[in-house]
Amino acid sequence: MKKILFVCLGNICRSPMAEFVMRDMVEKAGAGGGFLIASAATSAEETGNPVHHGTRKKLAEHGISTSGKYAVQLKRDDYGKYDLIIGMDDYNIRSMLRLFGGDPSGKVKKLLDFAGGGNIADPWYTGNFDETYDDVVRGCSALLDSLT
Ligand code: 4NP
Repeated sequence: MKKILFVCLGNICRSPMAEFVMRDMVEKAGAGGGFLIASAATSAEETGNPVHHGTRKKLAEHGISTSGKYAVQLKRDDYGKYDLIIGMDDYNIRSMLRLFGGDPSGKVKKLLDFAGGGNIADPWYTGNFDETYDDVVRGCSALLDSLT
């Protein structure tokens, strides 16, 4: 069982998008049973809140529901619970390394590092969930390729 945790600042826009896109991809690849996929926030800002309507709307266009997902904050002991802990941007990576006190097992990655580098566009600031979705699909697709 491969355990993957996606991480962003608020856990309402980018990391839940990555969580549900990745779940959909592994299901469609017939590999759903081999994965545990979740997402969390580096901040407590949005804890308990549902997925942002922009992410929900974009995923609904692709037949993906985020029903039942509410923002949770990343905890120090999550480091031991997952095989891969994947941030959306450089700021998330710095926050995680601070919380975990480093990355002794080499689990902390940035999503677009699987697809040539860069940060996932942050729709909280741009309002552009299309661009974020394209980035997330590119990253998750490359991530899945790296695992299968
Ligand atoms: P996310 O987007 O990190 O992709 O969930 C944001 C959500 C909330 C805030 C910033 C980004 N905020 O400043 O509260």
